[in-house]
Amino acid sequence: MLSSCRLVARSGAIQSSLPRTIALRSASTWASVPQGPPAILGITEAFKADSFQEKINLGVGAYRDDKGKPYVLPSVRTAEKKVVDSALDKEYAGITGVPSFTKAAAILAYGSSSDAIKNDRIAITQSISGTGALRIGGEFLARHYPSSKKIYIPTPSWANHNAVFKDSGLEVVKYKYYNKDTIGLDFDGMVEDLKAAPEGSIVLLHACAHNPTGIDPSEQQWRQISDVVKEKRHYPFFDMAYQGFASGDTKKDAFPVRLFESQGHHFCLAQSFAKNMGLYGERVGAFSICCESAEEKKRVDSQLKILVRPLYSNPPVHGARIAAEILNNPELNQQWLEEVKGMADRIISMRALLKKNLEDLGSKHDWSHITSQIGMFAYTGLKPEQMDKLAKEVSRICTKDSYDGAYMHQHSVYATKDGRISVAGITTGNVKRLAESIHQVTS
Ligand SMILES: Cc1ncc(COP(=O)(O)O)c(C=O)c1O
Repeated sequence: MLSSCRLVARSGAIQSSLPRTIALRSASTWASVPQGPPAILGITEAFKADSFQEKINLGVGAYRDDKGKPYVLPSVRTAEKKVVDSALDKEYAGITGVPSFTKAAAILAYGSSSDAIKNDRIAITQSISGTGALRIGGEFLARHYPSSKKIYIPTPSWANHNAVFKDSGLEVVKYKYYNKDTIGLDFDGMVEDLKAAPEGSIVLLHACAHNPTGIDPSEQQWRQISDVVKEKRHYPFFDMAYQGFASGDTKKDAFPVRLFESQGHHFCLAQSFAKNMGLYGERVGAFSICCESAEEKKRVDSQLKILVRPLYSNPPVHGARIAAEILNNPELNQQWLEEVKGMADRIISMRALLKKNLEDLGSKHDWSHITSQIGMFAYTGLKPEQMDKLAKEVSRICTKDSYDGAYMHQHSVYATKDGRISVAGITTGNVKRLAESIHQVTS
């Protein structure tokens, strides 16, 4: 009956005889929902549509091995087998997740000898990877942070930070971070903006492997940032999506978090196990708040539960069990640490190889930032129009090796317009061709 009414309503002929509510819905309910802007996935789509055999995708934020293939860490395979073989039940986890995972995640970040761990001052909940951790943090601060509802994020920052915090109910403000002239850190600008922010502002800090620039403050600069943050009574929010993946050493990458803890800051932290364990699709992460006391931790913990319960009730268990196995089993843990170092080292060596190839081609540009930056991404300094050329242009390259001294060079190199390339997409097999393309569009 209802469907025949809809049919008639669409024809328009006898709409006037229908109840008004049906006539009003003759247009689609979502007719005025606007089309959103093209997202990063646009790169993957353009890459897939390109039929050139030697195309290169440097847009994806996931590790690839030297054959350009996704990599499942052997330690993850072993841990997963152990989890499956132990035939655990599939009951719900508690609201804050798998305790053996969250306890180990906190130790990985803060260090087992930290005062906060020893005195049980860390409120922690499992999260839907790093993004979920940031969102829980944003929601918690919007609800409970007493001084301000503004969060300062670096310029530029990971593209999702703005949306996550805005949707959490915070106002997003920017602080200076990147100096496009030096393709390095604008440390003075950063400090100036942190000093100028109203006392008690929330400040987002990338703990390591800043995305998208790959530019991190030095340890000395972190100490100065800590002083400014303390002086201004700001509230630091660390995003640590790449612990171990940046330098190859989980302790070194956690330096700023551990420094701030030792300096007596109160702060919060988002952790992701997507990159350092390659658990991207398993969505394993944690959000923690470093509290003043064990008593405060209890209250904060209860509010985290109140926040999470209506969001998703409780997190998935499988990935967290894998991560817990790796973090808690000494042998597997050692193996994992070596594998993380292996991934970081491959990235570091691809940076060096790209720079060398550019120099061998006679590029007049200073490419030292490629090797001084760290982590999955390199901020090349290439302009949007040069990135466009990298994807689309076909150029004529002269070379003494080629038969007639020249050959057509199709770039088909895909990455974001801001000049960010994922170093994880570079291999010993494609680095020469990539360097040729970059040299072409920058000469
Ligand atoms: C800086 C930063 N934070 C957080 C994330 C969140 O990642 P995920 O939700 O996959 O853990 C990413 C992912 O690229 C990132 O680069």
